[in-house]
Amino acid sequence: MSEINNGQSETRVIEAGPPLWLLAEITYACPLHCAYCSNPLNLTDKKDEIGTEEWLRVLSEARDMGAVQLGFSGGEPLLRKDLEQMVAHASELGFYTNLITSGIGMTEKRIAALKDAGLDHIQLSFQAANAEANDLIGNRRHSFAQKLEVAKLIKQYEYPMVLNFCLTAQNIDQIDDVLALATELDADFVELATVQYYGWAYVNRDQLLPSKATLEAAEAKVNAFRDKQNGKGPKFIFVSPDYYEDRPKACMNGWGSTFLTVTPDGSALPCHSAKILPMTFPNVKDKSLQDIWYQDFSFNKFRGYDWMPSPCRDCDEKEKDFGGCRCQAYMLTGDMYQADPVCSKSPHHHTIEAAIESAAKQHDKSVILRDPKNKIDIVTV
Ligand code: FES
Repeated sequence: MSEINNGQSETRVIEAGPPLWLLAEITYACPLHCAYCSNPLNLTDKKDEIGTEEWLRVLSEARDMGAVQLGFSGGEPLLRKDLEQMVAHASELGFYTNLITSGIGMTEKRIAALKDAGLDHIQLSFQAANAEANDLIGNRRHSFAQKLEVAKLIKQYEYPMVLNFCLTAQNIDQIDDVLALATELDADFVELATVQYYGWAYVNRDQLLPSKATLEAAEAKVNAFRDKQNGKGPKFIFVSPDYYEDRPKACMNGWGSTFLTVTPDGSALPCHSAKILPMTFPNVKDKSLQDIWYQDFSFNKFRGYDWMPSPCRDCDEKEKDFGGCRCQAYMLTGDMYQADPVCSKSPHHHTIEAAIESAAKQHDKSVILRDPKNKIDIVTV
């Protein structure tokens, strides 16, 4: 429990349990330059990344607080040479560890070393189910072939394997191929996740957002495929974009309730997009995770329900969705306190309708690829 002075006369008392999930974004460096990258537009420079000792301390502190799940992510976490050291430390602490990777840079030597270090689980991303589309969307030649090799290695080394396919207007009509490929690779779980519009994906929203009809058709195919599986083969999870919902997602399961992200430069955030918000976030270089999670103004800011304006404040669903996503509210309304415009009760819901309309009018689906220096490079996928 901690107290927060809201700048007015009263002091609010806020209840918070421990963070259960730590997302360690250990580098923003990435061999891919996906058009739907959800990382911030301004990426931390490699020279500002925190070092091994600091990461090991962060992992220990998070585990002491009660965190149980740990995701190593990025960018591409394989680009950190100390990944194995971090995994070994996390494993000794008793974390369930997950590597979230594009697979680029994985070798048999490394996957074996990660196994020895105690890595529990690997999530491998694909940009599409064929080489041409995959390599174009990720902007890297031969990356599809490398991913196929990595998928085989993951199975060979007996890791549970989750495949992640990001669905966009460019690849959603290839869903049959995605289902076949995931089955052939013998994935345990397959996330068919329609892209969410944060970071660089927001830049390409008109091009990436599939129509409702194509989404429904894709979901129907997944359901039909699942029916035929008879409980065998990969488990498919289809995630629709919230733009077609009329209630917002319970983003991060509620701000500062479950998830804690630490970015490559040591910033601690309640969600991985939060840096876009007009507020200051703490850094693990200056404070303990305990102080950050329980005491920092930024983590307390959207805990509870008192911060909510109408219509969330009076809504009987506020305990289900917590007013939706703060980052999306800010991106679409310029005000981070607003209800997430996905909600049909939001006075800004028209911004979502306008986005859907605008995407429908965008017949040229060429996307702007992400470049480390944000150079503009347009390709047709
Ligand atoms: Fe930041 Fe939803 S992504 S609160």
